[in-house]
Amino acid sequence: MYNTKLITDDTYYVGSSDRRLALFENIYPIDRGVSYNSYVVIDEKTVLLDTVDHSVSRQFIENLEHVLGERKLDYVIINHVEPDHLATLDLVVRLYPDVKIVGNAKTIQMIKQFFTFNADENACVVKEGESISTGKHTFTFVFAPMVHWPEVMVTYDSFTKTLFSADAFGTFGALSGNLFADEYDFDREWLDDARRYYINIVGKYGMMVQNVLKKASDIDIAMICPLHGPIWRKDLLYFISKYDIWSKYEAEDDGVVIVYSSIYGNTENACAVLSSMLADLGVRNIKMYDASKTNSSYLVSELFRYSKAVFASSTYNAEIFPKMESLLLDLKAHLYQKKKVALIENGSWAISSGKKMSEILSQMKDVEIVSPVLTLKSSLKEDQLDALLSLAKSLV
Ligand code: FEO
Repeated sequence: MYNTKLITDDTYYVGSSDRRLALFENIYPIDRGVSYNSYVVIDEKTVLLDTVDHSVSRQFIENLEHVLGERKLDYVIINHVEPDHLATLDLVVRLYPDVKIVGNAKTIQMIKQFFTFNADENACVVKEGESISTGKHTFTFVFAPMVHWPEVMVTYDSFTKTLFSADAFGTFGALSGNLFADEYDFDREWLDDARRYYINIVGKYGMMVQNVLKKASDIDIAMICPLHGPIWRKDLLYFISKYDIWSKYEAEDDGVVIVYSSIYGNTENACAVLSSMLADLGVRNIKMYDASKTNSSYLVSELFRYSKAVFASSTYNAEIFPKMESLLLDLKAHLYQKKKVALIENGSWAISSGKKMSEILSQMKDVEIVSPVLTLKSSLKEDQLDALLSLAKSLV
């Protein structure tokens, strides 16, 4: 059965949610699922804005056919070519062979990389700032390269003042009936997943996100329709300001994230003692995680969120413990920066994890490493408590 909703004048939601998928992009856990949003505007001409992932294609096609009724589809605007939004384009073209595929030159080139049908026959290539009028509605295309792929653009409908924002302003999490962010307690239910989505998917491209925010600041926007998660029609500045903080790599909150890799619990014990010391020093946001237990995407998100961090790792095969090394490389790949960090190394012989963690962290921009690195020989001893307290004080 179709499941669509009118969201503003002539504009229908035709997407759907997937709660079965365990790993988004086959890497990020999504316990709350994910939505693949797609929109149709019914005007003198009909317009589809992006398609959906294979997993929800059946629901999507049913929705699309229902909303169009006897009408044919005139345009499909492709804001983003990644298959979680493009996968169903070939079905759409098969159903509506005369449809014009609207995208920039890169969009059309990449569509041809993914599909075998002749996209050139349907292509309507647009340039930055160009518009298409469909009657009442005028759609203007604003390029947003690397948010999150090079071909990405966002589309603004000046009649409804709606920005179709591609991956920007999206979040992990399936939709449950309510489509609008103001119908949820967004801070409680969505913000952590929104942050984790942004940092892990788009976090590397902060400068490009800043460019788009600058372009968007000149536009009168009443509604933001992203490709994942709820639609924004109220308090837009709340979410835009989060994007501004995230894309500038600023800490969202003051606090300390302690991440440890501990084989037999001794490094963990040192971190627990350190956390008590930090609490005594008045630190309230203290988050402690085992890098072997918690998926890296959550850790990266938390480490971006808070102003300070402690990385504590056992030495393993004369290297950093693998889960910690992988986390640090993940942080480097996502351009982790503007933070203050302290390091604890442990080992029973040939202790080297501290030096190697420093080597990775010192390649990151504006990451201040508190010195000295605290070295544990197998376990924390009473005569090291002063050094640990001094590390805590230097950090905060
Ligand atoms: Fe939701 Fe970059 O795709």
